[in-house]
Amino acid sequence: MTLAVLAAFEAVAPLPAAFQYLGRTREAGRRLLEVVESPPAVVFPPDGAPPPARWDVAFEGVGFAYPPQGPPVLTDVSFSVPQGARLAVLGPTGAGKSTLGHLLVRFWDPSTGCIRLGGRDLRHLPEVHLRRSIAVVAQQPHLFNASIRENLHLAAPDAPEAHLWEALAAAELADFVRGLPWGLDTWVGEGGGLISGGQARRLALARAVLQAAPVWLLDEPTEGLDRATETRLLERVLGLTQGRTVLLITHRPTALAKMDAVVVLENGRVVEQGAPGELARRTSRFAALTGCG
Ligand SMILES: Nc1ncnc2c1ncn2[C@@H]1O[C@H](COP(=O)(O)OP(=O)(O)O)[C@@H](O)[C@H]1O
Ligand SMILES: [Mg+2]
Repeated sequence: MTLAVLAAFEAVAPLPAAFQYLGRTREAGRRLLEVVESPPAVVFPPDGAPPPARWDVAFEGVGFAYPPQGPPVLTDVSFSVPQGARLAVLGPTGAGKSTLGHLLVRFWDPSTGCIRLGGRDLRHLPEVHLRRSIAVVAQQPHLFNASIRENLHLAAPDAPEAHLWEALAAAELADFVRGLPWGLDTWVGEGGGLISGGQARRLALARAVLQAAPVWLLDEPTEGLDRATETRLLERVLGLTQGRTVLLITHRPTALAKMDAVVVLENGRVVEQGAPGELARRTSRFAALTGCG
């Protein structure tokens, strides 16, 4: 009897505490549902349409603002990159370069104009084709709270370990990983918090190498590196992109000699475009950015 009474108290003892948390839990649930149930900003057509047959990228009169009534971040941006060519998007911080990349992967849609991949409006391309077509190294890449191995496998679930090491070597990260006590099984932490920003970006780069997509979007992949490392890394990465369409976003003109074309962006507008050599001869604005001429 005594034990039964004691046991009965044990059963109800947590209830007051649970009641205290009820409000908080309800509120958390409400916020979660608000996100889950809100209509997505970007709607993809159903799967079924074929993938693009070519890998050229074109922006046609693209305009964009984050809040619809907000100030325009991009205005009438037009350029094209033929399949297999390399384009540098150059411009000061805040010019709208990352935004341009976000539109290419359809985080948002342009407010005016259109973006084409292989001649097809992105809005007519099923999500699976878009994701497979473009390898992205974002300026703030997202890493999952998992091991280095698992973060790499996201790009290529069946890649054997040798391929993971090749990709890490390409991103100049192999020595670092080899030196870790747990190697590939090292945990990177929430959002990659246990490794440095530069290492996170290079891990994202290794992931792009593994993905082997026909189009590459690199947003300041060498930010924070010294000049010598930056030059070496860019050369190595660009060597891997042979035959692929590359958009390299940068505010530093290090690798321009290796690019086929340059678009200079200022305040969301294209102010110059052409071959790097030609621009260097022609414009003072470009000369100011590259620090030569
Ligand atoms: N998510 C966002 N919401 C609202 N404004 C943004 C957002 N991201 C960027 N911006 C604004 O858009 C402009 C261009 O930013 P961004 O594309 O990041 O430029 P860049 O990459 O050239 O430095 C900046 O004025 C920036 O403050
Ligand atoms: Mg940026």
